[in-house]
Amino acid sequence: MSGTQTQTGSGFEVRALTSDDRIWVQKVLRQYWATTVQVSRGRIFKADELPGFAAWRGDEAIGLVTYHIDGDECEIVTHNSLAGHGGIGSCLLAEVRAVAREQGCKRLWLVTTNDNTPAMRFYQRREFDMVALHRNAITEARGLKTEIPDVGMDGIPMRHEIEMELKL
Ligand SMILES: CC(C)(COP(=O)(O)OP(=O)(O)OC[C@H]1O[C@@H](n2cnc3c(N)ncnc32)[C@H](O)[C@@H]1OP(=O)(O)O)[C@@H](O)C(=O)NCCC(=O)NCCS
Repeated sequence: MSGTQTQTGSGFEVRALTSDDRIWVQKVLRQYWATTVQVSRGRIFKADELPGFAAWRGDEAIGLVTYHIDGDECEIVTHNSLAGHGGIGSCLLAEVRAVAREQGCKRLWLVTTNDNTPAMRFYQRREFDMVALHRNAITEARGLKTEIPDVGMDGIPMRHEIEMELKL
């Protein structure tokens, strides 16, 4: 699963990121997350420097996931489908899960924001559980990343981080 290239059987393939991908990865991160900088649990990541996977349909990038392994934990730092909901996000998640297992991780985790109900649905349907609510973590993260909007999906104020995990 976690080789450099995986045919998904869904009209796209998934490849591990290489240094050649850096420019378009930066572009995607800026488009979807405002900057290449991500803040999670108060920690700053340069997401464009992280390992990850991309989904490709021909020459078109249609999905991106980045992750960070720390000891026996693997955090999904960014995760985007760039072309609708046709299984791209699930395939990218499967690749990270496989890498995390191969590298001996016991836990795959991420934070999402309190407004992101589609993400809560997506991960819970894929064996993740909510393990913590970090109240006002997003409010505090604005001190580190000023681009975080005040209001998120469905007009919901963005204030908190929801931590979700999958035991490996
Ligand atoms: C989370 C995300 C990566 C999932 O990728 P995806 O390609 O949509 O995932 P899949 O196609 O494999 O599965 C999507 C599921 O949501 C459903 N779905 C349908 N319409 C949807 C919509 N408008 N929004 C979200 N999900 C939708 C799909 O039917 C599928 O349902 P299932 O759980 O019953 O299988 C993607 O929705 C995304 O880019 N979200 C924005 C960024 C984000 O919030 N990232 C997560 C936090 S880092």
